[in-house]
Amino acid sequence: MLTGKRITLIIGGGIAAFKALDLIRRLRERGASVTSVLTRAGAEFVTPLSVAALAGEKVFQELFDLNDESEMGHIELSRAADLIVVAPATADLLAKMANGLANDLASTLLLATDKRVLVAPAMNVRMWQHPATRRNVETLARDGVLFSGPAEGAMACGEYGPGRMSEPLDIVAAVEAALAGGPLAGRHVIVTSGPTHEPIDPVRYIANRSSGAQGAAIARALAALGARVSFITGPATVPPPAGVTVVPVETAAQMLEAVHAALPADAAVFAAAVADWRVVSAATGKIKKTATGDLPAIELAENPDILAQVAQMGADRPALVVGFAAETDDVLENARAKLKRKGCDWILANDVSPETGIMGGAENTVTLITGTGEESWPRMAKEAVAARLAEAIARHLEGSDGG
Ligand code: C5P
Repeated sequence: MLTGKRITLIIGGGIAAFKALDLIRRLRERGASVTSVLTRAGAEFVTPLSVAALAGEKVFQELFDLNDESEMGHIELSRAADLIVVAPATADLLAKMANGLANDLASTLLLATDKRVLVAPAMNVRMWQHPATRRNVETLARDGVLFSGPAEGAMACGEYGPGRMSEPLDIVAAVEAALAGGPLAGRHVIVTSGPTHEPIDPVRYIANRSSGAQGAAIARALAALGARVSFITGPATVPPPAGVTVVPVETAAQMLEAVHAALPADAAVFAAAVADWRVVSAATGKIKKTATGDLPAIELAENPDILAQVAQMGADRPALVVGFAAETDDVLENARAKLKRKGCDWILANDVSPETGIMGGAENTVTLITGTGEESWPRMAKEAVAARLAEAIARHLEGSDGG
């Protein structure tokens, strides 16, 4: 059942748009409310009137419709839903999504949303198989977009193959699965990510090469298993995932404060590359070179260790505290020592020597060290490391409940 769930349905242009009418009916039968957005091309195939009649709600069509902006802005429209469904998702809509275009209401909503997106592609088989579409689909899957179909079969254009839109009941099943939760439903997990910037003066700072890719992937993987994720991120170069609560911070001190504000949590994963030191008193104006060539004296102080603080706290300590040990030498030995010293439950050790290409790269090679054992994982995409970690966290939390 989908009782009380709010779906925003984007209807793209294509002969399959007629199936969107049945989809609306099926979703509403199960208790969901459906707010529809009809693209200009979609309106060539189904009328706004029939969509509105089935949805029992106003249909949104134009980005620059001032009435709609005063009633409900496009940002609000993109956030009000529990899930955004695109059916039919044309090759054009997928391309816009994959490239972040926002030149009509549908694409703007898709770019502005912080919710998960499920697409039901529908297009000619050659278009589906085109390398450009393959690339776009891959990008979208990596971004965490969910897919229903396409199915294989005879197409309205007379050709045969993959490209037919999933049947409405299959899309409903995918919607139910997306909203059902997963093993981390009802759990709250904190993830820290990215570097921190420690100001020297208003224009300069101490930083490091962390891209935030691993932390973002972990947050996305936890959310995909149903967790409510507080994603506390320093100034990373990769964007935060959809479907998580993003708390942007700059410094280690701000990160610590944000972590405390986000507690309590069932688990916390400290993937951030926190700067070890901050400048004791950052200058309020830009530090100038002097005529005599005197160098500025920059006094450093150690930053609070967020992981250690949380791992060693009392009442509010998450049941599972996970840290990272990014090392260049004696990786495992250092990581084992770090696990003990900081008091965390698990540590993921990885070698960040420049020749590994891990820092800022797409892949990672980690060893998971727990109090009771060690598991070396093969080199794999950061997304795959994240998925494996999220599953291990889910299993651990289930186990600690006596399940
Ligand atoms: O001591 P080191 O920086 O190598 O420890 C790495 C682990 O500790 C990471 O999980 C990192 O997120 C966390 N950490 C932290 N606060 C710091 C330093 C590191 O949470 N000030």
